[in-house]
Amino acid sequence: MHSMAKTASSSAVVVEVSGRRRGQRILLVDDNPNNILLTRELLSSRGYEVASVDSAEAAQQAIQKQPPDLILLDVVLPGKSGYELCRELKEDPFTRLIPVVMITGLTDRGDRIRGIEAGADDFLSKPIFPEELFARVHSLLKLKEFTDELESVEVVLFTLALGVEARDPYTEGHCNRLSVYASSLGRHLQLDEESITALKRGGVLHDLGKISIPDEILKKGADLTPAEWGIMKQHPIIGENICKPLKSLRRVLPIIRSHHEHWNGSGYPDGLRGHDIPLLARILQVVDVYDALRTTRPYKPALGHEKSRQTMEAEANMGLWDRELVQEFFTMLDQQQRAA
Ligand SMILES: [Fe+2]
Repeated sequence: MHSMAKTASSSAVVVEVSGRRRGQRILLVDDNPNNILLTRELLSSRGYEVASVDSAEAAQQAIQKQPPDLILLDVVLPGKSGYELCRELKEDPFTRLIPVVMITGLTDRGDRIRGIEAGADDFLSKPIFPEELFARVHSLLKLKEFTDELESVEVVLFTLALGVEARDPYTEGHCNRLSVYASSLGRHLQLDEESITALKRGGVLHDLGKISIPDEILKKGADLTPAEWGIMKQHPIIGENICKPLKSLRRVLPIIRSHHEHWNGSGYPDGLRGHDIPLLARILQVVDVYDALRTTRPYKPALGHEKSRQTMEAEANMGLWDRELVQEFFTMLDQQQRAA
């Protein structure tokens, strides 16, 4: 009994200390000064850094200036409502991972349903009980810490991928261009948002596995010996293995693994054919080929747009690429050119 009480009190200390040490910041959005005063007092007593604003518009400015680790948001505000603000925050990739706790009336179930629809992470009812407030804030901040860590792992992988690109001076800017082309083609094909995000990431990460390919092979260009080819052909599998542990990249894995497959089954690493090659990998492949044709490489000069089109159509007819996708890609580029 005694030891349990001791454990409980020491964990409370951990919460307090970790709140202080990490300087976790909470933004209160409420137009009632008494509520703000009380909540601020409670949270400050636990070591959290607290800022407050009295409208959704002021909240947006504050968040832009310095994104908080958590937002406590009253649903009833002058001007833009808490629901609207929550929805906007959850739609914006830069703020969607900040947990939002909505503060609603005690009895109104409708409030909660609207809050869930707006993407709120949790709810508190008025009047706010301190223990409930601490529990909610603590658990959401723990989750936020975890997503922050995941985000930084992703950032490391992206940085490594750009480092791989930098080893080859001929491919400068290639990854970023692929991200843009591939996600545009995904939009043109009306794919869902998750696929488009995967294409953006795939543009940067698809050749990450080249990190294990020695410079002398990577920089040699086209004249590789069979043994060197064997090593080069490993890069899709190595890249997939590096990214595999990250759940957030699961939609990118098929792009990494299958971006060197050919429509007729002559590609690597699995010799997949036709529609067995994942669609997102086929999309990345089409834009990858186009960008490679349009830029100078050690073994060839850059081709113009029309010449690249003819080359890709001929290669698609030979069985290398998905003919339909090649057509769609050039239709999209034509449309973009007309719109410009
Ligand atoms: Fe590759």
